[in-house]
Amino acid sequence: MSETSETAPTGEASIDTGDVSYEANRRRTFAIISHPDAGKTTLTEKFLLYAGAVGEAGAVKAREGRRRSRSDWMELEQQRGISVTSTALKFDYRDHVINLLDTPGHRDFSEDTYRVLTAADAAVMVLDAAKGIEPQTLKLFEVCRAQQLPILTFLNKFDRPGRDPLELLDEIEDQIGLRPTPVTWPVGIPGSFKGVIDRRDGSFVRYSRSVRGATEAGEEIVPPKIAELEEGEDWRAAIEGCALLDEVGANLDLDSFYAGESSPLFVGSALTNFGVRHILDAIVDLAPPPHPHLDVSGKLRAITTSFSGFVFKVQANMNPAHRDHIAFLRVCSGRFERGITVVASSTGKPFTTKYATSLFGADRSTIDDAYPGDVVGLVNASELKIGETLYLGEPVRYPPIPSFAPELFATVRNLDTSRHKQFRRGLEQLTYEGVIQTFVDPLLEGQPVLGAVGQLQLEVAEHRMANEFKAPIEMRISQYQAVRKTDAPTVSALPRSSGIRIIERGQELILALFESEYWLQRLQRDHPEWTLEPIVTLDR
Ligand code: G4P
Repeated sequence: MSETSETAPTGEASIDTGDVSYEANRRRTFAIISHPDAGKTTLTEKFLLYAGAVGEAGAVKAREGRRRSRSDWMELEQQRGISVTSTALKFDYRDHVINLLDTPGHRDFSEDTYRVLTAADAAVMVLDAAKGIEPQTLKLFEVCRAQQLPILTFLNKFDRPGRDPLELLDEIEDQIGLRPTPVTWPVGIPGSFKGVIDRRDGSFVRYSRSVRGATEAGEEIVPPKIAELEEGEDWRAAIEGCALLDEVGANLDLDSFYAGESSPLFVGSALTNFGVRHILDAIVDLAPPPHPHLDVSGKLRAITTSFSGFVFKVQANMNPAHRDHIAFLRVCSGRFERGITVVASSTGKPFTTKYATSLFGADRSTIDDAYPGDVVGLVNASELKIGETLYLGEPVRYPPIPSFAPELFATVRNLDTSRHKQFRRGLEQLTYEGVIQTFVDPLLEGQPVLGAVGQLQLEVAEHRMANEFKAPIEMRISQYQAVRKTDAPTVSALPRSSGIRIIERGQELILALFESEYWLQRLQRDHPEWTLEPIVTLDR
């Protein structure tokens, strides 16, 4: 590892200086949280455009194909000819290295989508301005909140008719308790969106469209007097809106942003590129760089200590063409160099990082170095499990990655009773790897119930049970509207009703599953003394 220096080296962002503290400080590692169709893919592509990573954006129109593809980004990769991993996209912007972590949505939504957030230092919440907070955004937001991740908000699709932005601010605050602090404010109503006022200095940036949004939008700084003359009522309404925000004190506040209590908010349109530069600049200027991580004993490991990181996602055996097992590692301290032999903290065994990759998909390429904030894909890493810590030098173990509240439950039956041992072993292995969670339903004589965040996890479990463990299973899937953590006294008091199911994991975790949210609310109203706690994360 090279020595740390006080001064930042000059030159292009892509030049690796070897200086851990400098390299960490110029990294921004974040994820986009949004409901499907709010504009995550479009905004991602526009980030690449503004960062100069692609010359022209757009015409990503093959929606049919995109929906069917395993990852939105793999489609981007094929269309743009750029290398995108299905886990992290790395690009340079303003002398900074940006790591954008993928949070798979649509049919790829799974516990991995949540786990990825444990590797991020911040999140950008993209909302469709016509729709506001939607269910998937809400779920992802809860996971961010559980980790106190700072969140920037982007109100997207202002180019078309939508809701009053002030009403959207109220909705964000009321529904999720996050205080939005608009940094930019729209001039022009949704559908007739002209530009934004940057509330930090009062400047008005007026945009003009580029053809199909394929290149950057035109930007013109318009002095207030001219804006008043040219934009008339739209300008006056925007100024009034800003005055109202000043009055209620909805101003940028970094401390509450870092604490996950307030959210700097930007308005724009990913389609026409209006406001894209502002939000990308905010990732550099406002989002925090990688911070020292706490280890299991509550001690902070400084960024400049020798290499360490944790595995937050494992991708196993899914592609029959490469029978790989890739472990994705978030670097927390020090410098990672390909080829180094590190230690796996759970076993104390050495692990050789000969096959390290930052990119995969059509075009997998190896990486040589990585710094805090970066993501490394370790190939042929079948012994590495989710939550494993790897380190060099001073030993460290990071806290386990929690599991997340399941929403889908499948009662499973072993189809071949002669394969009982393999059936048990397979379920144990898949649970250990974090592919699914396993519970028992005491009413079903210990029959296993698999818990998952998304359908994909159950499909993977079914496939691997049949193909890898040669123990085919039958699954009966049930979805519940509400899942609550409960305890034995509450279980014995709950009515024996078909709308409630109790499942357990070991002695310590009991979940009550409700077919109807309304039914749960009624019971809670009538019996406030019962333990029925909402959950986001569960101990693994
Ligand atoms: P996702 O990854 O969050 O699922 O969303 P994606 O970017 O794929 O965008 C979903 C749709 O919304 C796309 O439309 C996209 O063009 C559109 N979109 C994204 N950002 C904006 C915006 O700022 N303004 C407007 N007007 N549209 C935006 P599509 O599926 O190609 O066509 P359609 O659904 O409009 O027919």
